[in-house]
Amino acid sequence: MKTLVSNIGSLTRTGLNQGEVWTENDAAFVFEDGVISWVGPRHEAPEADSHIDAMGKTCIPGFVDSHAHLVFAGSREGDFAGRMSGADYQPAGIHSTVSATREATDDQLRENVQNLVNEFKRSGITEFEIKSGYGLSVESEIKSIEIASEFTSQVTFLGAHVTPKGVLPEHYLQTVIDEMIPRATSAKWIDVFCDQGAFDVDQARRVLLAGIEHGLKPRLHGNQIANIGAVELACELDAASIDHCTYLNEADIKALASSNTVATLLPGVEFSTNSPYPDASKLIEAGVKVALATDCNPGTSFTSSMPFCIALAVREMNFTVEQALWAATRGGALALREENLGAIEVGKRADFVFLDAPNFIHLAYRPGVDLILKTYRAGELIYER
Ligand code: NIG
Ligand code: FE
Repeated sequence: MKTLVSNIGSLTRTGLNQGEVWTENDAAFVFEDGVISWVGPRHEAPEADSHIDAMGKTCIPGFVDSHAHLVFAGSREGDFAGRMSGADYQPAGIHSTVSATREATDDQLRENVQNLVNEFKRSGITEFEIKSGYGLSVESEIKSIEIASEFTSQVTFLGAHVTPKGVLPEHYLQTVIDEMIPRATSAKWIDVFCDQGAFDVDQARRVLLAGIEHGLKPRLHGNQIANIGAVELACELDAASIDHCTYLNEADIKALASSNTVATLLPGVEFSTNSPYPDASKLIEAGVKVALATDCNPGTSFTSSMPFCIALAVREMNFTVEQALWAATRGGALALREENLGAIEVGKRADFVFLDAPNFIHLAYRPGVDLILKTYRAGELIYER
């Protein structure tokens, strides 16, 4: 069955190159079986069986959130308030979320994920990744990825988030490698927090290689707290993405520019941890592919709003609005190595959003204002305001 989407005030297109964004007036598109089969001027539109009226609104591609930690219980607003009065972010704060997560029932965890996924839909996100990493025991980590897989196919095993309390790091890493990874069959990705206060480069390499041996694909947390060499490791292993990148040096930027590894920036983290924002313009000028993601988690970035991240990226990280929109759509798709996402183009999944605004610039121009009217995934309405 063919569906025609028309009466679009401003159709926002995203091209292959970083920041390549343009708008078309009087454009329309058709999708069939959840995939876009035609895009062009309204008056040339082919016959269709049904019709979606965009009500003259702006239409953008659905956001692709390539980095989120949704399986957890409890919250850490006290840590946030402390940081706002001068305290530093401490990875050790993760342990309080681990305790709450271990105590929660499966249904409580599931309900928490569902609530956050609903927020994602309200924020225009049509594809998202979910990581484990708040269980830190064999049973709790495997349960976390199984629950995550009920909501997305982009599941990441992050057993090596930090070492749980009362266990020696080497002993824990061996448990991750020998007992968790072989059972992480619901995951697609393997991730490690490779940073000061978490795991070093050699430890991260061991975990990622063990994951790769079991068919998982690598991605990495790094350069959030300090630069301990995570970028080099990510490029060495052809990781899909290195996430955070708060502290990069020139060599990192060069290495990323000549790799297939995306630099995923997480402005919600700098916002919530009172850290300096990285300068995206340096990366983009050097030819690095850059994505934006929410990093939705209770410790460092408890936001599910991609428009908020876009506004921060534009205001604080030297993104143009076009570059930020691209990073949250095409960039996210690249960071998940999913070629069929992130654009309103023939062959892509029909993921699109109607904005209550005359153009996409309003995403940054009207920070904190809910502009998402409707969200469609594979041609199906998944959220309506
Ligand atoms: O991506 N940096 C490591 N992990 C998470 C936050 C963990 C936490 O503090 O709960 C992140 O920011
Ligand atoms: Fe994270």
